Amino acid sequence: MERLIIRGGNQLHGEVSCSGAKNSGLPILAATILLDTPAKIGNLPHLQDITTMLELLNSMGASINFDESGYIEIDASNILLPEARYELVKTMRASILVMGPLVAKYGKAKISQPGGCNIGTRPIDFHLDGLEKMGAKIKSDSKYIYLDAGKLNPIDFNFPKISVTGTENLMMAAAIVEGKTILRNCAKEPEVVELANFLNNCGANIIGAGESTIEINGRASLKSTEWEVLFDRIEAGTYMVAGAITNGHVKINKIKPETIQIISSKLIEMGAIVESGGDWVEVDATTADLISKDISTEPFPGFPTDMQAQFMALNAISNGHSIIEETVFENRFQHVDELKKMGADISLEKNKASIKGVSNLFGAIVSASDLRASASLVLAGLVGKNRTQIEDIYHIDRGYECIEEKLTKLGAEIFREPAEY
Ligand code: EPZ
Repeated sequence: MERLIIRGGNQLHGEVSCSGAKNSGLPILAATILLDTPAKIGNLPHLQDITTMLELLNSMGASINFDESGYIEIDASNILLPEARYELVKTMRASILVMGPLVAKYGKAKISQPGGCNIGTRPIDFHLDGLEKMGAKIKSDSKYIYLDAGKLNPIDFNFPKISVTGTENLMMAAAIVEGKTILRNCAKEPEVVELANFLNNCGANIIGAGESTIEINGRASLKSTEWEVLFDRIEAGTYMVAGAITNGHVKINKIKPETIQIISSKLIEMGAIVESGGDWVEVDATTADLISKDISTEPFPGFPTDMQAQFMALNAISNGHSIIEETVFENRFQHVDELKKMGADISLEKNKASIKGVSNLFGAIVSASDLRASASLVLAGLVGKNRTQIEDIYHIDRGYECIEEKLTKLGAEIFREPAEY
């Protein structure tokens, strides 16, 4: 397996630009199933998960064309096989995002059981309950979920717990179901809003995305549009922490500051200087003696669970004691043991991590367990004395485009070591 090698101790300085957000691109690509004409999607990051979604659409019969402008043209208007196969779903659970569009457009879907992942069991009961209430007949076995629906009906559905892809799946299905669907206790993430904006640009009638209640008036037909996916707020947040943890000064371009407001506020609370403009944010920690601060993860606009691991690394090397509480997923602390190998002083009690800041972290051989845990280990490696070796880095390649190139541009000593033969 490839690994990342980092020699810590450099302050990061300079500018870096965000890539498109995989968590914006994935639902928008799935939504092309709803369209009667080809769509052109731009600013998609070159990441394995995006490739997997394109493979999935292609495996169902969609045509995919790459043009020289960097846009990808997807014609998913004639799906022959509404099926998300095990071989693809097992590598990316977000494949379940094709479920709502397939059932609404084709009246059926066969979706491989997504299973859990390293951060939790991650059930999809809300997705299935909603589609069942819309009229889908659902059966399942150990490998697949089988959905059959003649004509779906509009519903008034309340999510028992806020779910990002749950909101996206039911919003996509309802977009072409005749009548008024009301979804309550919805996720408010910017990626949900972006999906609604894309669908409305294709002729849908979705009102209230970004709020707790979304109203969808179904349309018989949706026509494609050209669209650029949102820039990645979690990637931006990760580079903001990279600047802070190295007492550096970095500017992140191509990001909407309002999508990372809570991250900026937390860094200011810790003692960094953070400024922002129309599409950039700047972190200056060159004179900061950062103070560790408590964090409790929440759905947007609260502190994002996808930034929890990164701030765990930052708190580990900042002054004082803090508590990080993970309220969204039940097992999202797998980076803790790896950070402790590097000298971090962290103890766990159920869903709370108690962190005592230490003056140094030390390079070590560590292993990535999931996407954001990997980012946390890279950040720790940037300050870890001597050499850090991060194994299993395929996780990080799922969410960070060209991470070693971008960090090298900022002054980090990081390179990818090929797998040993
Ligand atoms: C999305 O996952 C993101 N993935 C995750 O990003 C992100 O961490 C998560 O939202 C929370 O913000 C994509 O957008 C592709 P949820 P999702 O449904 O939609 C429970 C990354 O790092 N739940 O909002 O799968 C669930 O177990 C990834 O890029 C149910 O119980 O998350 C969890 O505890 C990781 N039943 C909570 O809700 C359901 O039917 C929130 O999950 C659905 C969810």
